[in-house]
Amino acid sequence: MDRRTFLKMTAASTATLPSILHTSAANGYSKPLLPIAEDEKYWNAIREDFPITHNLLYFNNGTMGPSPRQVTERVTKRVEHVDATGDYGGDYEGIRKAIARVIHADSGDHIAFTHNVSEAISIVSSGIDLKAGDEVLLTTQEHAGNAIPWLARKNRDGIVIKFVSLTDSNWNPLSDDEFVQRVSDAITPRTRAISMPHLTCTTGHMLPIKRLTALAREKAQKNGAPIWFLADGAHPPGMLETDVRDLGVHAYASCGHKWLLGPKGIGFLYISEEFIPHVIPTWSGGEADKYWGYDARLEFLPTASRYDFATQNFALFDGLEAAIEYMEKIGFDKIEARVQYLTTKLRNGLRELAPGHFRFLTPESSLTGLTTIKLDKMDYKKFAEDLITKYKIRTRIVPEGNLEANRFSAHIYTSPENIEKFLEGTRSVLS
Ligand SMILES: Cc1ncc(COP(=O)(O)O)c(C=O)c1O
Repeated sequence: MDRRTFLKMTAASTATLPSILHTSAANGYSKPLLPIAEDEKYWNAIREDFPITHNLLYFNNGTMGPSPRQVTERVTKRVEHVDATGDYGGDYEGIRKAIARVIHADSGDHIAFTHNVSEAISIVSSGIDLKAGDEVLLTTQEHAGNAIPWLARKNRDGIVIKFVSLTDSNWNPLSDDEFVQRVSDAITPRTRAISMPHLTCTTGHMLPIKRLTALAREKAQKNGAPIWFLADGAHPPGMLETDVRDLGVHAYASCGHKWLLGPKGIGFLYISEEFIPHVIPTWSGGEADKYWGYDARLEFLPTASRYDFATQNFALFDGLEAAIEYMEKIGFDKIEARVQYLTTKLRNGLRELAPGHFRFLTPESSLTGLTTIKLDKMDYKKFAEDLITKYKIRTRIVPEGNLEANRFSAHIYTSPENIEKFLEGTRSVLS
């Protein structure tokens, strides 16, 4: 769809919806759903941009976000240009600014480029000052990407990793109050960092990050030593409006290849001004410096650019910029509304199928693009396998934390008809 059609359709959309209010104590917002959320004509035109819609029923955006063709075209254009001209460099600042807009960072100076979320987390886990016996808090439902970088530091320096449980012993999610209390109880005078998902990949549990960062600051003041807070933000950008300043995090790790629908293998790290001097670049190279010379002096840049360096794949940057521009044309508020609208449909349908077959692990208050169920009787791997082989419905299994559950996600290329088919497939596999 070209820009003009896009804008015309947005303006023309007058469909009204009963005002569905959602509240999320986790991020403290409560908004009416935008009317555009159920304007099928509008979203159908957008669906046309996504090749994946012609191939399968894709309910695994949480792992990989398929790009619209506008993104792929931009990537290809750059690759072809580089190979035709030998001209491979360029200006990264536009894309830093675009990412800053998405997450409401003050400026592009706070954005470092990475290849993925794990690398962004590794910059922090390997770069902060930690000594043997210092403690770092994670949750019991981490993606390996937020566990391995910290465990690697444990192996290297003897730090202590503590896992704070997000559920009771029967996998039921804790309330925000209960979880904040557990984190508070886990903090000791040796706690130096907290690294937790903004939204868990396991169940789509939205953590009360704002309350947790406030808690960390309060405890740090009492302890007389900083407690750095890093949020693993693999999921929210591109799905939910994300405001790193409001969340109060010191750092936020995310990627372009999930909900931002960008090229695969490009990520970013947001780092606050206060935190930059405390995260030493552990590996480095050209363009990370403000000065280096044969006088053996090295001074890193004062901005987040100090963490990215050397030759990069510019085509991926271009592609991510195209993805962000594509989403900005729609509007992140509309995308959030649509994702929530589709998720509500999906959950309502599942609720009817649940008795005797499964229960929800996702807290009801976490109305995001992710929904996880735990089957009562059927093996979770067999269920996912049957969905793909019999009905071309791709979902994700959740082995993390021994949950043995199944996760589904919907994004702007998902239609209500897709959800109906998904529910039919689910019904049939379960029966
Ligand atoms: C919550 C979470 N953190 C980290 C990651 C790792 O992402 P990446 O492969 O970009 O490092 C994922 C990927 O699914 C994730 O869901």
